[in-house]
Amino acid sequence: MDARALKIEAARIALSHVERGMKLGIGSGSTAEEFVRLLAVRVSEGLEIIGVPTSERTAQLCRELGVPLATLDEEPALDLTIDGADEIGPGLSLVKGGGGALLREKIVAYASNRMIVIADVSKVVENLGRFPLPIEVNAFGLRASQLAIEEACRALGLSGGLVLRKRDGEPFVTDGGHLILDASFGRIPDPLALSDALHAIPGVVEHGLFLQMADLAVVAEPDGVKTIDGL
Ligand code: A5P
Repeated sequence: MDARALKIEAARIALSHVERGMKLGIGSGSTAEEFVRLLAVRVSEGLEIIGVPTSERTAQLCRELGVPLATLDEEPALDLTIDGADEIGPGLSLVKGGGGALLREKIVAYASNRMIVIADVSKVVENLGRFPLPIEVNAFGLRASQLAIEEACRALGLSGGLVLRKRDGEPFVTDGGHLILDASFGRIPDPLALSDALHAIPGVVEHGLFLQMADLAVVAEPDGVKTIDGL
């Protein structure tokens, strides 16, 4: 089974948690897009749901495939969000934002009663931090925010480079108009302490640590699908 087949399998199992009438947060990234494709088939067969997308890209795919959408302002309380992850660690702690949609993903997940993470087994880690942590920052004062982040990380014993994310040679700009610094720590021993420290920096808009947000992970392996409960 290749990686795409595993993503489809995880998405297929997650789809079985979707019920008629649900208000659904719809994630971003390649795994979430497989979910959108399967969801669209169910919608074309008559499943009634309303989706709130976590990125412009996901919104575009949903529109192309006929998945009905609302904004989070129109539907501010969601039943379930289904989204991918870059890392799934202990207690269903997550690193997200490899695709740059972390802010909207976190806002939508927080507005949801439940969150299910879908992934292939390569995303499961013993400790978070192998994947660079995306930190979304305001463009104003970028250099000052970078220095403050470096200082906060040093105080927590974390070292590693902060790299301004680029696309086609230009700074990558998020759907919210912000920039992303990717922090390569290798290992994050205390994700909660790092989360708090980053949130204390005014120029930090959000970061990709999703702690105590996911309720269930659906992880596809070549020999089957495993579900991991957050409790
Ligand atoms: C998007 O910003 C991310 O949070 C994605 O959920 C994450 O990067 C997983 O993407 P893939 O499913 O493409 O690996």
